[in-house]
Amino acid sequence: MNLEQQHVVVVGGSSGIGLGVAKAALEQGASVTLVSRSHENLERAVAALGAPGRVRTQVADATREDDVRRLFGALPPVNHVVVTTVEAHYLPIRQMDFALARRVIDSKLMAAFHVARHARLQPGGSLTFTTGIASVRPSPNGSVIAAVNGGIESAVRAWALELAPVRVNVLSPGWIDTPIWDALAGDAKAQRFEQHARRLPVGRIGTTADVGHAAVFLMTNGFTTGDVLRVDGGHPLV
Ligand SMILES: NC(=O)c1ccc[n+]([C@@H]2O[C@H](COP(=O)([O-])OP(=O)(O)OC[C@H]3O[C@@H](n4cnc5c(N)ncnc54)[C@H](OP(=O)(O)O)[C@@H]3O)[C@@H](O)[C@H]2O)c1
Repeated sequence: MNLEQQHVVVVGGSSGIGLGVAKAALEQGASVTLVSRSHENLERAVAALGAPGRVRTQVADATREDDVRRLFGALPPVNHVVVTTVEAHYLPIRQMDFALARRVIDSKLMAAFHVARHARLQPGGSLTFTTGIASVRPSPNGSVIAAVNGGIESAVRAWALELAPVRVNVLSPGWIDTPIWDALAGDAKAQRFEQHARRLPVGRIGTTADVGHAAVFLMTNGFTTGDVLRVDGGHPLV
């Protein structure tokens, strides 16, 4: 699980799971580049990580292919890339706003395609994309996110063949306590978390450290590729 002398790029690293992945990589000795659309958010994330000299930032919008091409053209040699971007919208099919649906698709599925196309990795490198429980246990109004997650999981199996020997995997989180929930659940967040935690075999909501630990496994285990690693507290079982 050692990442010394390794450069890890986290696209979506300014918040939530991406920030947890960056923290876990730093703990294993890596240097990290955080990527997001917002300079301000990135600066806040750097301050939160408190690892001076080992964290750089790059502003890029992963929905734009040119941004992603420029990003990988500008970075020093990269060993591992983890992608955690999303613009999440839950949209009922009968009244679906297709402009918003496309934002979800662009922010996750197309972002993954852009990174898979343009990332250039050192020997032994890996790509990890983040999907989520919705690919197997969707909620009502969650068809777009379900389709996006399932699409990435299918594409990753093809990329693991096409980009070999680069290893390409998926991290699929269940409910993880991140800022996304403030937007999705608002004041009901604490109550929803408590109810969900009671149903799960592990009896709690996930943390960004849980997902960061799994991301480090996918970066460092040289025999895992084309796979989906679930970090969801047993959610599909209940
Ligand atoms: N939290 C959960 O319970 C959960 C469950 C299942 C799956 N997931 C998945 O896990 C991933 C991370 O979720 P999270 O909860 O950590 O969300 P989050 O806290 O909202 O973080 C999303 C990150 O993506 C960045 N981002 C969004 N759009 C971007 C774009 N177009 N280009 C570059 N960066 C972009 C955001 O930064 P800026 O706004 O600064 O650009 C932010 O750093 C997502 O794919 C989500 O679907 C999360």
